[in-house]
Amino acid sequence: MNKLSLHIEDHETSILVGRDMFTRLEQIKKRKLIILIDENVYKFHGAKLADRECIIIPQGEKQKSLTYVEHIFREMLKMEADRTSFLLGIGGGMVTDLAGFVASTYMRGIDFGFISSTLLGQVDASIGGKNGVNLDGYKNMIGVIRQPEFVWCDLDLLSTLDHSELVSGFSEVIKYGAIRNKELFEFLEENYSLILRKDPSALEYIITQSASIKIDIVQNDVSEMGERKLLNFGHTLGHAVEKLSGMLHGEAIAIGMTLATRLSTKLGSLSVHDASRLINLIEASGLAIDTNIGFDELYETLLKDKKRSGENISFILLRNIGEAYIHKISLDSLKTALNDLH
Ligand SMILES: NC(=O)c1ccc[n+]([C@@H]2O[C@H](COP(=O)([O-])OP(=O)(O)OC[C@H]3O[C@@H](n4cnc5c(N)ncnc54)[C@H](O)[C@@H]3O)[C@@H](O)[C@H]2O)c1
Repeated sequence: MNKLSLHIEDHETSILVGRDMFTRLEQIKKRKLIILIDENVYKFHGAKLADRECIIIPQGEKQKSLTYVEHIFREMLKMEADRTSFLLGIGGGMVTDLAGFVASTYMRGIDFGFISSTLLGQVDASIGGKNGVNLDGYKNMIGVIRQPEFVWCDLDLLSTLDHSELVSGFSEVIKYGAIRNKELFEFLEENYSLILRKDPSALEYIITQSASIKIDIVQNDVSEMGERKLLNFGHTLGHAVEKLSGMLHGEAIAIGMTLATRLSTKLGSLSVHDASRLINLIEASGLAIDTNIGFDELYETLLKDKKRSGENISFILLRNIGEAYIHKISLDSLKTALNDLH
């Protein structure tokens, strides 16, 4: 079991990476504990929640909506949840984003926590306090920043996760190595096949390392004005690919990271050798490095990205493996550079 903690102002979130987290439910000493869980996670692991009050929702991103929030509020009312109740989200990023938002707004806010059940959730979505829902096709348009009491990353739950979901989460782990931790990156190069076979100790190591990086960056930049932008490595283009292709988040980010890596070499900061190492790792783990989406369509979608400010865009590039930086680039220059790469 590895213990981490995230400190924001006077609030501490305890983050655990380990096994058998359902046995910890007894520790939640609240008058009423309500669990929000999706049908997939419940199907595989719900037997352990037999005598608990659960709100079971369909799986999938569609549920991250205001309509569903209303549905969950009503279920909580029926269960007589009050301000002393506790909402526990058990699931991937969809469930934890939704649970955090519901808990932050129900009766002006009740306490909440997560048992994170996907690799993407454990290394990214459950950490940092961003909670919210989508609106009219725009992701995470409505939301709040509020920290959970705890995040328990349960390695046992990953045993039932689809391979494609695991690989999608792995893409974010590659990102952490690329932007911040060369040692982690080298571990991934040597052990990716072990990790993708769900070896528990390899998973425990990469989740702990990734979560620590996210904690460190979030703590240093709560208002998201500086360092936190580094977490967007591969995301500006990746979001456009995700929107246009319907690929899983991490799959699209892998394509975004490949383009950002090539751009880093083109603009002079990253050696060809390091760029090849990164792209080789992405490919070796089974992630695509290219897309057949046309350049114009990709560029138009990128322009709508919320990170754009005026005629410039903040793009995350690499200097070395383990070292990223924010590069402000004019839209014209970006268009030319990307067109050359595409
Ligand atoms: N809040 C943040 O900072 C942040 C960061 C990144 C992503 N996100 C959000 O996270 C979401 C994506 O997260 P995700 O990839 O975990 O998606 P998800 O929660 O939709 O889970 C993916 C699929 O895996 C299934 N699943 C989950 N755990 C399982 C398990 N243990 N065994 C078997 N199946 C399981 C789910 O039912 C679902 O079908 C998006 O909504 C995204 O916007 C949030």
